[in-house]
Amino acid sequence: MPITARSRSRTTVFAPRLAALLRDRLGQDVFRLEPDTIGIAGPEAMDRVLAARRATETERPTFKPLHGRSIGRPEASAVMRTIGGDVREALKKPIPENVDLSGPWPITGHFFLRDLILGNDPYRLRLLMSRNLELTPKLTWSVIAAGAALPRRPRPEEQLTGVARLFADATGYQDRRYAMGMYRRAAAPVCFTVSTLVANALWLGAPFDEGASNRNIIHESARLLPPSWNILRYASPEYPAIDSRIGPADDVLILPLLSHRDPALWDAPEEFRPERWDSIDPDTAPGYLPFGHISERCWGRHMVMPLAELLLDLIRRQGLTVDPEQQRAKVPLVGLLGVEEIRLIKEARGAR
Ligand code: HEM
Repeated sequence: MPITARSRSRTTVFAPRLAALLRDRLGQDVFRLEPDTIGIAGPEAMDRVLAARRATETERPTFKPLHGRSIGRPEASAVMRTIGGDVREALKKPIPENVDLSGPWPITGHFFLRDLILGNDPYRLRLLMSRNLELTPKLTWSVIAAGAALPRRPRPEEQLTGVARLFADATGYQDRRYAMGMYRRAAAPVCFTVSTLVANALWLGAPFDEGASNRNIIHESARLLPPSWNILRYASPEYPAIDSRIGPADDVLILPLLSHRDPALWDAPEEFRPERWDSIDPDTAPGYLPFGHISERCWGRHMVMPLAELLLDLIRRQGLTVDPEQQRAKVPLVGLLGVEEIRLIKEARGAR
């Protein structure tokens, strides 16, 4: 039977391997997961491993090599600045109050963000935002190759986002293909990570208490359902010196999924309590690493937080909540941890 976590009358059904981790490893600090992999969930060991060295280019989630080409720091920073600028531009525009956010999540939030941020970009780029492409990298590359080969129809520059302009300015098939890959790498996560974060929050806590701040809701949701539930580091000579249980050939899997529920670190760890963040600093709380380690935190978090808050704000103002008929949601074993599908409906009056 899968392990479950209860919030209100809802049951979160974790995929069997995640359920087994939660059942068997909670509270352990350093343990063997596989013949060649050590799991780490103790805050001190996590801290020391992540501080020991920077992520290599194949460990990095966003800017790993693209089409065999390394993405250096200056290029990665420039792309992040570009997408950051696109998000800021999108947030300056008035949000249509009548937008309907009810329906299945996270997909509804994904489409909303795609249209908000990338609305005027050419279809062949917007196509790259499909969540289904996550499932098969091969499919992603065939969509990219087909898109890069199509003749370009010029568009007025001002209608394009900055990330789309990288594509518009690329000359030749190879460069266009590369620019499309970069669009997928940089723009897609904005839509699907934020919608996942918000869907998780809604599942865990909606309808929220009126006084609960959106920021606290997000911190608490990222604690119980951290989208980046593991951080991988390949075997490295620094690690055995940190803990003798780590062998020289062992890869290391840091597990925020576990440290975020460790009873030694949290009061009532299984409970969704946004107000706990009134007195905890999310940047320094031991074992709390939803955006990675202090030595190199997620570069996208300054976009993610305001977008997630904006979505939560709209949903709360529209009086939407999770359909009370839905009592179970699955959390599959995928890179981005989150509820597979929840249904948002208008909250019945006096339902709380
Ligand atoms: C819910 C949303 C997100 C979460 C939970 C998240 C989480 C993380 C984590 C845990 C790391 C550290 C990885 C490591 O040390 O190996 C990281 C790094 C990073 N994140 Fe995020 N992230 C999110 C969204 C985004 C978005 C939307 C972008 C870009 C548009 C982004 C760009 C990056 C970059 C550039 C790095 C540095 C390493 C690299 O080059 O890949 N993140 N993120």
